[in-house]
Amino acid sequence: MSNTEALFRPKSIAVVGASRHPGKIGYEVLKNLINYGFKGKIYPVNPKADEILGLKTYPKVSSIPDEVDMIVVSVPAKLVPGVVEDAGKKGVKVAVIITSGFKEIGKVELEREVVETARKHGMRVLGPNIFGIVYTPLRINATFGPQEVIPGSVGFITQSGALGIALMGMTIVEKIGVSTIVSIGNKADIDDADLLQFLEKDESTKVVLIYLEGVTDGKKFMKAAESFSLRKPLIVVKAGKTEAGAKAVASHTGSLAGNVAIYSTLFKESGILEAVNVEQAFDWARAFSYLPPYEDGQLVIVTNGGGAGVLATDVLAENGISLSRPPDSLVNSLKPKLPEFASLKNPIDVTGMISNEGYVDAVIEAIRNDGVGAVLALYCETAVTDPVVIADELINAVKELGGLRKPITVAMIGGEKSYKAVAKLNEAGIPTYPMPERAASSMAALINYRKVRERVERRLKELGRTTNA
Ligand code: ACO
Repeated sequence: MSNTEALFRPKSIAVVGASRHPGKIGYEVLKNLINYGFKGKIYPVNPKADEILGLKTYPKVSSIPDEVDMIVVSVPAKLVPGVVEDAGKKGVKVAVIITSGFKEIGKVELEREVVETARKHGMRVLGPNIFGIVYTPLRINATFGPQEVIPGSVGFITQSGALGIALMGMTIVEKIGVSTIVSIGNKADIDDADLLQFLEKDESTKVVLIYLEGVTDGKKFMKAAESFSLRKPLIVVKAGKTEAGAKAVASHTGSLAGNVAIYSTLFKESGILEAVNVEQAFDWARAFSYLPPYEDGQLVIVTNGGGAGVLATDVLAENGISLSRPPDSLVNSLKPKLPEFASLKNPIDVTGMISNEGYVDAVIEAIRNDGVGAVLALYCETAVTDPVVIADELINAVKELGGLRKPITVAMIGGEKSYKAVAKLNEAGIPTYPMPERAASSMAALINYRKVRERVERRLKELGRTTNA
């Protein structure tokens, strides 16, 4: 096992600075680790305690009688070099350093000392200035964030700690399953590129989303990104795009935010899907994690509201996706079932007088049609339909189809019942949003990813470059 791999697959973890007091970071990290169900060995380290949360406690890492793969460090900054030296001598592979008070407040030397001490022993460092790491396949929650993270296939890397913790909570409410959540903070050693190299091959991860403030080694990052995006979609939200934002980045994680235009060009070249904000990034991640990839065939919009169809069409057009007439076979099969004034162009407008069954039937017909490659289903709540019933029927119909073999994104627009329907559909693995633009933008990302991958492939071939793939 490489030392970066030990970050995700440790057999044993020591929490250094495990506190006896609930509410302190070192206590909460240990509690999450135990309660989330890590099956490996857990060792609390604290010279002032004999036992914490029912586990025997050791005064330092080197007093632990067994091998330790990972340490999670939560002692004040000035104690960190000593902890790292002690752990390094013992052969610990990776240190996850939660502690703040390094480069981000100008203590560059202290941070360098930590990294150099670790390197001397061949140990890798995650952080410092982070909230920890989650890896759901092995039930690792070594963070002081929420406990019950939902397992799934989204990998989330965040340079911001507080925002990352908040978004961790959001994934639970929004039912977005994650394979991993990594807080990288100051990136003193392990950086995004190292993580991408691991996650590219990690079978539990289908898509990665990075909240990025700045990169330290641009070339390394771009190389890892292009190799990654040949296999799996890589979504990035770049913060610090304005001059004022860039200044905020410098005092937050001590990174250089860099030039916006340069970033966007490099992102495009290396196949990164750049989201405009965090909401969009998670919208896309949800779609990629639930759905099969887009292969080919037409995208068809089915809507019961003309306006929703127009908004979605705009978003698709802005993303270079044009709609053509639905296949004749679909038009012919839907025509007898729809009101006379329904539109059978694309978007297919089944009209506001459609019933629950009529709407679901039209969506399923579109999914089943061989000429259709993807479906965007838009629903506006009306008094003659019930969004929750529609959600249930759609879930059942998809089950009867044997699951989704082509991509579909859904928008359920309306009041309380529609929000319930959104949650139900998402829980069932059908990516659903409360607004048509969000469903359309996620679909566009999905369709465009295929082109992006092909473009990167072509470019690498032209350059005579090989990848990790
Ligand atoms: N080895 C092991 N344990 C030790 C050692 C040692 N050498 N020395 C002391 N300890 C114990 C302490 O006795 C204490 O345990 P106790 O509470 O049972 O007495 C425990 O380690 C923690 O030490 P404290 O001195 O109490 O430190 P405290 O918990 O107050 O702060 C912390 C440590 C949390 C690392 C702090 O320095 C810090 O950096 N806080 C910010 C962390 C952070 O926000 N990171 C970014 C995350 S992202 C975001 O912004 C949300």
